[in-house]
Amino acid sequence: MKSEFFQKELARAKEALPGEVVSFIEERCSKSHPESHLIAVLHKVQEKLGYLGKEHMNAVSVLMQIPAAKVTGVASFYHFFNFTPRGKNRISLCLGTACFVKGAGKVLDKLKELLAIDVGQTTQDRLFSIDVARCVGACALAPVMIVNDKVYAEVKPETVAQILGEYGFQSSKVAQITAKTTASKAGK
Ligand code: FES
Repeated sequence: MKSEFFQKELARAKEALPGEVVSFIEERCSKSHPESHLIAVLHKVQEKLGYLGKEHMNAVSVLMQIPAAKVTGVASFYHFFNFTPRGKNRISLCLGTACFVKGAGKVLDKLKELLAIDVGQTTQDRLFSIDVARCVGACALAPVMIVNDKVYAEVKPETVAQILGEYGFQSSKVAQITAKTTASKAGK
């Protein structure tokens, strides 16, 4: 019979994760070799919560009966796991060869400059986070940027502010930048 301490830990772990994730873990752990399902479980947590927090990984450790150090070690080994909360609007910029050749690097510089964050980070107001992708399969539209599920084609550094504006990025600043861009184009 499991100790009272363990039962409390179990209850706390279940509270730390969405019910759907807890059911997923219970279903996976009912099969043989529960450890082999760790990556699938971590994916499920990230899919539901957007990132893997320390408390979530601890909960996975308790529910799967896998040492916490192992859960953290596996999660940090793979680049596709995030450890900080993602923004309400997730920006994914393709840095695959076709996009990079067509200027995705400059688009990324502009994104970082406007949002004052780096790749893998989230703005303080939690409105945006930046991630990079390796070829999203739309090379003909390069450079490609995806915000949530919306795909933006042939993105240029000059259009980044306007795109972000659609998602609530400081509209007054966007207006200023847009006005400057329009004025400099008209002055050419
Ligand atoms: S390289 Fe960006 S979509 Fe293929």
